[in-house]
Amino acid sequence: MIRFEHVTKRYADGTTAVDDLSFEVAEGELVTLVGPSGCGKTTTMKMVNRLIEPTEGGIFLDGDDISTIDPVQLRRRIGYVIQQVGLFPHKTVLENTATVPHLLGWKRGKGRERAAELLDLVGLDPSVYGDRYPEQLSGGQRQRVGVARALAADPPVLLMDEPFGAVDPVVREHLQNEFLKLQAQVRKTVLFVTHDIEEAVRLGDRIAVYGQGRIEQFDSPATVLGAPATPYVADFVGADRGLKRLSVTPIEESDLDQPPVVHLDDPLATATERLRSEGARWAVVLDGRDNLHGWIPADATADATVKGTVREHARRMEAWLPLGAPLKQAFATMLQHDAGWIAVIDKESEGRFLGVLTPARLHEALRRSIDADAQDVPRAEVAVETVATA
Ligand SMILES: Nc1ncnc2c1ncn2[C@@H]1O[C@H](COP(=O)(O)OP(=O)(O)OP(=O)(O)O)[C@@H](O)[C@H]1O
Ligand SMILES: [Mg+2]
Repeated sequence: MIRFEHVTKRYADGTTAVDDLSFEVAEGELVTLVGPSGCGKTTTMKMVNRLIEPTEGGIFLDGDDISTIDPVQLRRRIGYVIQQVGLFPHKTVLENTATVPHLLGWKRGKGRERAAELLDLVGLDPSVYGDRYPEQLSGGQRQRVGVARALAADPPVLLMDEPFGAVDPVVREHLQNEFLKLQAQVRKTVLFVTHDIEEAVRLGDRIAVYGQGRIEQFDSPATVLGAPATPYVADFVGADRGLKRLSVTPIEESDLDQPPVVHLDDPLATATERLRSEGARWAVVLDGRDNLHGWIPADATADATVKGTVREHARRMEAWLPLGAPLKQAFATMLQHDAGWIAVIDKESEGRFLGVLTPARLHEALRRSIDADAQDVPRAEVAVETVATA
């Protein structure tokens, strides 16, 4: 549907924004372009609707060389959501949405009817929002209008340049989900630019990971996450992703280690014996109801002649969390208390001790979460057969 063949763009000042790019987007496919600022994403997009002309190479739309198509004709086939939304501030929401039909010379009534339909489609009631001006909308609502406007002339191709970039993460996720539903209905061929790997993964049938002006990897989300093609991709995908996974992955019971456990009223000698037999350097101390009290180090019990109970030698444990807390909080708690492990309790049963989370187990849990996520990335199976990377 869209094919890039050895496309290079050098700007007048010598900047090579895009360097020998070859790839193909199939009909009805959504390809996300992801990469750091300045890597050439917007330049790639703008060459598709001829806002920028390539220095070398060719771009084909449905097999037609776009350099032979009149730009105005070409743009009728391509909806464009520009970076920073770009609504006309002095036009109402309805007028903004009807921009392209208007440019195409549709009758005013028909254009407005279509605009109202589209506003509905993106979840904005035209009778409520149609007559407002962009400044009277929230950021997320403005972005929806941008999407509605791009869809107005029902073009087969959509170019979307960070369409949800200007809103907070919660709204963004909401817009992404809505857009996925919308795309399932309209099945456009979409090039979608983002610098957020999460967004690229969530939306893309395939992802093009950009380095400086070049595609480093062009694959399904699962493959990009699970088998990064280059150290650069691994780095780009990994660092950010790991941090994000930390905040959405809960501590599970299977993540916990079971250290030796003693009770407050146990004789110290019992604790000594237990620690020695398990070769442990500390034990968790529980009260009579098996709730967390604290811990006891092996050296406090080392002298077997010491009389008394665990109670006199136990230390309070401040580093604890309920089961289900995010790994990120576990990590923060370890840092805050300078602790080598944290206790995990069951909130439901008023604090029953469940086990401890160590840095090694935290790392394993994170690893597992990233792998699992890569497995069931939605629509990852929708891999398209061939990739034209010459
Ligand atoms: N008109 C221009 N003249 C010279 N250099 C340009 C021009 N437009 C863009 N560039 C340069 O080309 C490179 C790619 O720019 P582009 O806008 O494609 O990046 P991008 O990937 O969209 O970045 P961002 O994520 O910040 O939007 C950058 O180094 C940019 O400075
Ligand atoms: Mg850009």
